[in-house]
Amino acid sequence: MKITTDLSHLVNELDLNAYANKVQEIHQMIENGDGAGHEYLGWLHLPSHISEEEIDHLEKTASYLRENYEILVVTGIGGSYLGARAAIEALNGVPAHQKPEIIYLGQTFDPEYTSCLLNYLKDKKFAVNVISKSGTTTETSVAFRLLRELLEKRDGKEKARKAIVATTDKEHGALRTLVEQEGYDSFVLPSDVGGRYSVLTPVGLLPIAVSGINIRELINGAIDAEKDTTTPSIKENEAYKYAVARHYLYSRKNLKAEFLISYSPFLVQLGEWWKQLFGESEGKDHKSLLPVSATFSTDLHSLGQFIQEGSKIFFETIIHFEKYRQDISLPFDEANLDGLNYLAGKSLSYIQEKAFQGVLQAHYESAHNDNIILNVEILDAYHLGYLFYFFEKSCAMSGYLNGVNPFNQPGVEVYKANMFKLLGKPGSK
Ligand code: PA5
Repeated sequence: MKITTDLSHLVNELDLNAYANKVQEIHQMIENGDGAGHEYLGWLHLPSHISEEEIDHLEKTASYLRENYEILVVTGIGGSYLGARAAIEALNGVPAHQKPEIIYLGQTFDPEYTSCLLNYLKDKKFAVNVISKSGTTTETSVAFRLLRELLEKRDGKEKARKAIVATTDKEHGALRTLVEQEGYDSFVLPSDVGGRYSVLTPVGLLPIAVSGINIRELINGAIDAEKDTTTPSIKENEAYKYAVARHYLYSRKNLKAEFLISYSPFLVQLGEWWKQLFGESEGKDHKSLLPVSATFSTDLHSLGQFIQEGSKIFFETIIHFEKYRQDISLPFDEANLDGLNYLAGKSLSYIQEKAFQGVLQAHYESAHNDNIILNVEILDAYHLGYLFYFFEKSCAMSGYLNGVNPFNQPGVEVYKANMFKLLGKPGSK
């Protein structure tokens, strides 16, 4: 198992056996595709079904964009950009030294952010990957029109065409129509995969490949996660174990929120991706956990006080890495004015591990918070691919345990309808 779900820091022991039948039943429902939202189960066996032809097209397009442009503007919102951003920042860091630079638009109407970004781009050689399943999301469409206008006015239609790659539905939506009319290179987001489950489709894979990450390793990790989570056995399926623990803490202990905690500033966007996955999948029928993310040590000096002594409405899920790709040791200093010589020669991985253990003691033993620990060997492309799939599978199980359809998002439409009416969109009511 590349990820293990450690439940030994729950305040009361969880009897997994009590969930065995229910988990088995939901597992069958997912596999048979006869539960609510079954038309969006395309993610389930996606990793093992990605074709060599598709990977080849992705890698060739990524090489073309890497060789010819200084910047790639990933233009999308929600599931159409969060997975790519999570992977790129997790593996390449922030600020990253990747070429081309990757920046994000299409997730906001903010005039200041948009103006700054367009101003930054105006004399740079940039390409655009516009991503929208529906092809009609207003934030993304507005951003894409601005980017297209900038490119076409500056470089002419032909050069602009070469700088644009679209990822959208095979047949439907305004973006597909634009692709056909303008002759843009394009990728397909399968109609049976929802945005928040799409990181392992071209939606995530193209920008990730452009950033220089090896997408084959990412896919291999996801393939292994797919294999490892095919068992309905609650004792052996680590993704289901996590889903069951969440459900138990929500329904039996009446906890209202889950903190997803990492110890790396590079994982802030992974937290954003995870919040969307669980928030949009489960927040229905006036139920479900509020997904919140936090980064330690950073947030120990802000939210840490609340977590230790504030309202007891939450539990913590910690992503814990066993090894690191890079490390650094603290040097000895003769003067020792900072009093740190007791740590001289010690690595930051050693110090971080002690911090993790100390925090666990504080939050579990002293504060009596429930803690789930997800142990991951190392943060690399393979394990990140594994982790993406692991969370997707847990989320499906968790949503069904909670009695909701994990694959729709009817609530999101409410703001859109109001906005369209206020903006005077033709046909809005
Ligand atoms: O998960 C989802 O379905 C959503 O977050 C969508 O990805 C998001 O709303 C963007 O939609 P679209 O890709 O149609 O522009």
